[in-house]
Amino acid sequence: MLLPALVWAVTALIWVGHGAESHQTAAAPARRDDNADFDWGSIRCPAANSQETFPTPSYRTEKGLFLVCTELVINATPQEVYHALLDFQTYPAWNSFVRNVALPAEVVKTPDDVYVGLEMRFTTAGIIPLLNTTSDEIVTVMKGSFDDGGSPGEGEAEPATTEGRYLMAAWRYDDGLHGTASKSEHPNILVNRGDGTTLYISYETFFVGPGTLLLLPLKDTLQKQYTQQGLDLKAYVEKAA
Ligand SMILES: *[C@@H]1O[C@H](CO)[C@@H](O)[C@H](O)[C@H]1NC(C)=O
Repeated sequence: MLLPALVWAVTALIWVGHGAESHQTAAAPARRDDNADFDWGSIRCPAANSQETFPTPSYRTEKGLFLVCTELVINATPQEVYHALLDFQTYPAWNSFVRNVALPAEVVKTPDDVYVGLEMRFTTAGIIPLLNTTSDEIVTVMKGSFDDGGSPGEGEAEPATTEGRYLMAAWRYDDGLHGTASKSEHPNILVNRGDGTTLYISYETFFVGPGTLLLLPLKDTLQKQYTQQGLDLKAYVEKAA
């Protein structure tokens, strides 16, 4: 009984500590070649009690500690969902948990001004009861068109199926310590179902690291938030579509 309480307390302190830290500026990562040898569009959430984790675009070979994942059909095109996902300024209006997304001054309007390497600070409620938590995130993948890698180039044949036809946006957590404490990344994959609707897969892999171990007790809470955020996004996009 005491140990879980202790782990919880330390975890809480670390998350609260995030909020108190001064903003650390990490070097922007180079643009990722997100399609070269990995078909992100084929990823589907594992069964509920699976211990499986997935690689992410920034961390292809790291060992995963745990995964949260949600998957659902949204009655809107992949482009419409992509637009909403990168429209960080509207998050507080539709997302049950995100209270604010702080952006650098040069980002005047989202999604227009969003770029790979953009640093954001999410303020989120509901991870620890009655407290806001913050996390610094860096945009790592923006694949906003089907021709942006992965799909046929000029003169090549269209694939016979819609398999592999997807858009993708991802961001990774910035621990301010070059990932030595905690690495995680959140890919959002938008598979074109070919009928004006989208299969939305949203996951985050938390990789082995001292900071991540302390997040393990929060796995169920994080999974519930991912599930709810998927439903929030669906409701928001379908209302606009
Ligand atoms: C959480 O953050 C929001 C937005 O920044 C703020 O309005 C609210 O007062 C905060 N709540 C707590 C408990 O700090």
